[in-house]
Amino acid sequence: MISFDEVCEIVSQEISKLDWNKTPNGLYAPIEYILSLGGKRLRPAMTLMACNLYTDNITQSIYSALGIEVFHNFTLLHDDIMDNADIRRGKPTVHIKWNNNTAILSGDVMQISSYQLMTETPAPYLKQSLDLFSRTAAEICEGQQFDVEFEKMNHVQADEYIEMIRLKTAVLIAAGLKIGAWIGGASDEDADLLYDFGINIGLAFQLKDDLLDVYGDEATFGKKIGGDILCNKKTFLLINAMNVAKDEDLALLNAWLENNNPTQSAEKIQAITSLFTKLKVDKICEEKMAYFYDKAVAKLDKLSVDTNKTQELRNLAQKLMSRKD
Ligand code: IPE
Ligand code: IPE
Ligand code: MG
Ligand code: MG
Ligand code: MG
Repeated sequence: MISFDEVCEIVSQEISKLDWNKTPNGLYAPIEYILSLGGKRLRPAMTLMACNLYTDNITQSIYSALGIEVFHNFTLLHDDIMDNADIRRGKPTVHIKWNNNTAILSGDVMQISSYQLMTETPAPYLKQSLDLFSRTAAEICEGQQFDVEFEKMNHVQADEYIEMIRLKTAVLIAAGLKIGAWIGGASDEDADLLYDFGINIGLAFQLKDDLLDVYGDEATFGKKIGGDILCNKKTFLLINAMNVAKDEDLALLNAWLENNNPTQSAEKIQAITSLFTKLKVDKICEEKMAYFYDKAVAKLDKLSVDTNKTQELRNLAQKLMSRKD
């Protein structure tokens, strides 16, 4: 089986071969920029690894994998405008380095490019892959819309949050795995199991992202710590803090949620982080993460392939749970 590191190497090489040297430069340079900043390449790697469970010929799924990664990077350009984020992968975000209009339009071209890549999916699987990809793309928009709507809502339930992150984050990972499995020749049962693995690992992945947004190290995480707190994002941490907090803790939390004064950003991040820690909601979040991780791995156990073949995906899943970036 090909390892995650080897797969990432293939993905990076193929991404560097994509030609963005076109006019107008102002439209394409930001695409070259964001893609050259790397990232974990998790989604295309999983597509290729799912394919590799069924065949040694993983190159047949490379363009579909690249389509998933270009699409993911497109969502980041728009997401960073929506989340008011200045730093990604340790560098200025596209809308900061250029401007909002550039990030919108370069993002649009990336989305179109991702479809062009996806149409290179081998013919027998093309229609179903494009259908799944399109459904997934719409679901991500739905998740993103819920995410921003929740910022203004005082009461968001934990299950509403889980559904929101399923849509904004988990479905793309899951779709990449399923498309990779199809191309490799997996049965429908196995392709569905890999989709479900992707959903559950994706949910755990976003819970970890929310934790890192509060407790991570800026230099390693590559994003500004406390960004979610400043947006009043209804993360699993905040939802649980609001459920658990009593009396003066609750009053303090509510006061900080109402305080959006930019000159007090640092104090807000510090105060809410302290409350999270005091209320031990980081532990609640880690438990939920472990719950979805276990559910994910249980799906791999049910696959028709030999257990040793799934080891690389298991290693990757485990690595994602303890990641710092
Ligand atoms: C960031 O995804 C967006 C989320 C769904 C949390 P990644 O953490 O996979 O970002 P990169 O591609 O590695 O930078
Ligand atoms: C990202 O969620 C989901 C999508 C980009 C679709 P976040 O907003 O938490 O991702 P980061 O933290 O900015 O990478
Ligand atoms: Mg966001
Ligand atoms: Mg964001
Ligand atoms: Mg985040």
